[in-house]
Amino acid sequence: MSQPFFITTAIDYTNGAPHIGHAYEKVLADVLARYHRLKGDDVFYLTGVDQHGQKVQQSAEKQGVAPQQFVDEITAKFRALWAKLDVRYDGWAATTDPLHQECVRANLQKLWDDKDPATGTSRWIYKKTQRGFYSVRQEQFLTEKERGPDGAFGPEWGQVEEREEENFYFRLTQDPATGLPGFDPKQWLLDFIAKRSADGNPFVVPDFRVAELRHAVEKLEGDLCISRPASRLKWGIPFPESFGAGFVTFVWFDALVNYITFVPGHDPHWGAKEEGGRMKDEGQSEADSPQPGNESAEGANPASSFIPHPSSFASLWPPLHVIGKDIMIPAHGVYWPVMLKALGFTDDEMPTLLVHGWWNISGEKMSKSLGNVIDPDALADKYGAEALRYYLMSDIATGKDADFSEERLVQQYNSALANSLGNLLNRSLNMAAKYRPDSLRQFEFKTLVATHTNQSGEADDVVDHRDEFDSAKGRVMPWKVKHKAEAAVGDFTEAFDRAEANAGLFASYELAQRCNELVGQAEPWVLAKKEKEGDESAKENLDAVLYTLAESLRIIAILISPVLPKAAQGIFDQLNWKMDEQGQETRFRLADAQWGGLPDGHQLGQPTPLFPRIETPAA
Ligand code: MSP
Repeated sequence: MSQPFFITTAIDYTNGAPHIGHAYEKVLADVLARYHRLKGDDVFYLTGVDQHGQKVQQSAEKQGVAPQQFVDEITAKFRALWAKLDVRYDGWAATTDPLHQECVRANLQKLWDDKDPATGTSRWIYKKTQRGFYSVRQEQFLTEKERGPDGAFGPEWGQVEEREEENFYFRLTQDPATGLPGFDPKQWLLDFIAKRSADGNPFVVPDFRVAELRHAVEKLEGDLCISRPASRLKWGIPFPESFGAGFVTFVWFDALVNYITFVPGHDPHWGAKEEGGRMKDEGQSEADSPQPGNESAEGANPASSFIPHPSSFASLWPPLHVIGKDIMIPAHGVYWPVMLKALGFTDDEMPTLLVHGWWNISGEKMSKSLGNVIDPDALADKYGAEALRYYLMSDIATGKDADFSEERLVQQYNSALANSLGNLLNRSLNMAAKYRPDSLRQFEFKTLVATHTNQSGEADDVVDHRDEFDSAKGRVMPWKVKHKAEAAVGDFTEAFDRAEANAGLFASYELAQRCNELVGQAEPWVLAKKEKEGDESAKENLDAVLYTLAESLRIIAILISPVLPKAAQGIFDQLNWKMDEQGQETRFRLADAQWGGLPDGHQLGQPTPLFPRIETPAA
């Protein structure tokens, strides 16, 4: 039975062209999605764009175009880049999509309709008037923190005036006066975070960020403003009429909801009015779901007044959200779980956050004003998509920051791909074509070991007797390479299960290195010469070396396929392997990464350079 694997990324703002940070995140999620497809999981990869907001409204005005036209043009750039970089997603989230607008409004409506019987008001959303200092230029209310040392608001805020504004707020904390929403969301979140860690399934990975999130939640005060008056934000999703006219959804109640909207078959109005649990599969009994008025106090799910969702949602949910460290606190780590809780999602239905670090430039943040923004589109044109994918996955540890360097991209490509793997492929196929032009002989270890007898004539340890090329201690032998290949598959799996693509890639790099050492030490050309002279043992050894190289390359192709899908196809083509599935992803399965796949008598294909060295000096 295949396991569902639902993976999402942050949706990118469409107020500028994509940069290397956007590309990193989408490639990382693509690589993880491909890894899970390799394992045979039922993968759904959702990515997309966050198209609303003041910045878009302003940029479009500046250019004299309608905001929709503006975002459509930038969205097209994102999609073209993902096609170029081989980012293969299954669902596309665009927040101006009418389906999404409907879903956002339906969610707001659900929370608005979730009334407290005592007061008759919504348990989760309330309206409040804010009074304070407002920067006309920055279009935001200012707090005391924004005052300079002289107590005044600095010139960067432009004209500052006292204003009053009504908006809608979403509860993140319990109202001490009314007790709404009926429990303390902040305490629930703290308990939830602690429980997930105690269960060995941390809410945030890598788990060094859990403490960071917990501290932020402990300090949490107040609620989340979720609207803007339509007079000041036009480019957004209008609130449902039942809230009264003139309000537009502000940022997170729009953007985060994409993770729900674009699940295949999702009905924005699921569970709108009826009672019962949500997210149930059809066969699940009513008793499994919390019933209104029937909740236990701890971890109560009093908002669970929704009908079961179609099973495609139930089977995919919950997702793994791949996001950058800047949007963990508060958006994904605080707002989102509380929003889900309010919408009736149970603790078991909460997502996991995979929080990645940032690419910096010489230790500095990338920014338009510093003029150091890296364009992934130009890099892919210059070096090829796979070189860029390889660099983005190999030169950063998931969760940590790294410095982007074009020079290192070239260096790493040349050393790991051109010199190590590319060279191995080329020389292995050339030698096979020369020394075994008809076919390979499957190398059986048992033909290469002999049982030695000890002094009393009893069978001793099994000893490898290919001393012809193993006279120096520590030499690489075919059987050592076989063990390395088996270990590499294990290391790869462990690394990818922890989302550590760099460690996963290293496993295949080490195997390729071991194979190159084998060639250098076994000297197949010497074995071939001896074979010609009638040396049977040299013949066997040559069979073993050539088979070991081809078989290792087959396994390496499977292991690199999540990061380098085109190169993996190229290696399979050259090995003349699974040609009936040429070009297809189903050609690669982790289950096939077991030693011995190439049969006795297999005929390899022709060598063609797969990773030509990059000679261009880095710009
Ligand atoms: N639109 C919001 C996210 C909404 S998710 C419901 C947003 N957009 S963004 O375009 O600013 O950022 C998109 C993603 O790119 C974020 O996860 C962010 O962390 C990531 N990156 C932006 N710059 C980055 C680097 N320099 N390096 C790595 N990733 C970075 O936030």
